[in-house]
Amino acid sequence: MKPDDQICYCYHVSLRKLYHYARRNKLSRPSQMSDCLGAGTGCGWCIPILKKIHDRVAEGCDLTASENVADLPTTAAEYAAARSEYLKSDKKNSF
Ligand code: FES
Repeated sequence: MKPDDQICYCYHVSLRKLYHYARRNKLSRPSQMSDCLGAGTGCGWCIPILKKIHDRVAEGCDLTASENVADLPTTAAEYAAARSEYLKSDKKNSF
């Protein structure tokens, strides 16, 4: 994924916004990622990625560098397609 790709589709929050929010606010819990424009408070699809972003920032990782997002979803299209399947299922991610 690229820095300006959306992570939270419900609230249109990009990887770049989430990364900078987590870095500036030195969050102690992954659930605090929701304070960034409501990310994760809609369908819940993005919560596992929000947790990953939180953990990577806590490790001091620069997520605006492409080599550091290798374990995040590969493309925005694949991520969006996986979300469509999630929405059809009964699954509900939570913090
Ligand atoms: S995609 Fe983030 S809450 Fe729905």
